[in-house]
Amino acid sequence: MAVAAGKIRPSIQPARRQEPTAPKSPPLQQESAGNLASDGKIATGINGLDELVGGGLEQSSTTLVMGEAGCGKTTFLAQFLYNGAVQYGEPGVLLSFEEPSESILKHMKAFGFDFEPLIEENLFAAINYRPHEVKKLVDEGGGLIWDTISSIGAKRLAIDSLTSYAMLFESLYRAREAELMLFELLRKWGCTTLLSAEGLYTDKLKMATGMEYLSDGVIHLHHPRYQASRYRAIEIIKMRGSRHSEKLCPFEFVEGEGLRIYPGETVFYDLKKRDE
Ligand SMILES: Nc1ncnc2c1ncn2[C@@H]1O[C@H](COP(=O)(O)OP(=O)(O)O)[C@@H](O)[C@H]1O
Ligand SMILES: [Mg+2]
Repeated sequence: MAVAAGKIRPSIQPARRQEPTAPKSPPLQQESAGNLASDGKIATGINGLDELVGGGLEQSSTTLVMGEAGCGKTTFLAQFLYNGAVQYGEPGVLLSFEEPSESILKHMKAFGFDFEPLIEENLFAAINYRPHEVKKLVDEGGGLIWDTISSIGAKRLAIDSLTSYAMLFESLYRAREAELMLFELLRKWGCTTLLSAEGLYTDKLKMATGMEYLSDGVIHLHHPRYQASRYRAIEIIKMRGSRHSEKLCPFEFVEGEGLRIYPGETVFYDLKKRDE
């Protein structure tokens, strides 16, 4: 039941729990065309997500995954790339501006995402840009990234995170210019792309950037605190061309699986009253 404003008891509707269907050890190198539905949507590989976004993500679209530190953005991106490769044979590239990719790949092993064999199979590649190198990306027009994408025939790209990318420019004007350039490159590269960004969709800060407007989709990962516990929920803010869910759905981290979303359940809490 919905909770009246002022009482912020987060509650999970006792709805049917949908068990994930993802195979634990799927075969590598499946035919990638098998992942493209007739409406141009591709399955994400994140348990429960496709149901929320109208069947999957549009091929070659760009989706922003927002949320505060620790809400699960990096795991979300890694799961999209890992399952995209092992379940659908779609090679993927991780571009990291923040946490070194070695550290991301090491942490992701706990969820069963072992990227090492994928690197050998040319189904995955990671690129790291350290802060001082970011200008190089703009100067080069993304040459190294395109070389990597084309060398493995990448269909998926994940950038973690766009906040770090934008922060590395000396002025808001330069940051905005760099974002526009990046989105132009993303269109040329043609991958189905996930971008992560720090912050809440409701933050005033969002007005400082154009990421939400440039992206085809915006997904918000919530991690609010109520009394002594925190809760995790996912909300689809925007998904161009899709009839998407308007609900806040709970998700959890599952060892050996990653994020598991429960599309049949609903979480209610008052955004304004969170963390009180
Ligand atoms: N092996 C694990 N099992 C369950 N939860 C985990 C595991 N590893 C990390 N987490 C949870 O995920 C959080 C970090 O997720 P991450 O994807 O790095 O978030 P973000 O990128 O948004 O900061 C951790 O703070 C922890 O709560
Ligand atoms: Mg992260």
